[in-house]
Amino acid sequence: MAKMIFVLNDGSEVEVDAPIGLSVLEIAHKNDIDLEGACEGSLACSTCHVVVDEKDFDKLDEPTEDEEDMLDLAFGLTHTSRLGCQIKMTEALDGLKVKLPSATRNMMVDK
Ligand code: FES
Repeated sequence: MAKMIFVLNDGSEVEVDAPIGLSVLEIAHKNDIDLEGACEGSLACSTCHVVVDEKDFDKLDEPTEDEEDMLDLAFGLTHTSRLGCQIKMTEALDGLKVKLPSATRNMMVDK
């Protein structure tokens, strides 16, 4: 069984089982990780935005144009940002580490 690691907003890391073929979004939901995924993987939102660890980013398939378009709308976009629902777990991604983008909503309220 592959594993993956979520880095939460407070900096803590949670290692979870990552069944091959499931998306990062599905794995987050299975483990009560606070990743929204409002459109459930149909590329119609950007609430499943995650920041992929530098070491893992190159192992991922290139994002599709639709994913790029949605990512452009994500708050706190970084150069290793991806949509969690578009990353499917594979053997090669064992140990994948992704960070939840920090406190997007609170920051918006402050402005
Ligand atoms: S869940 Fe909406 S784009 Fe990923």
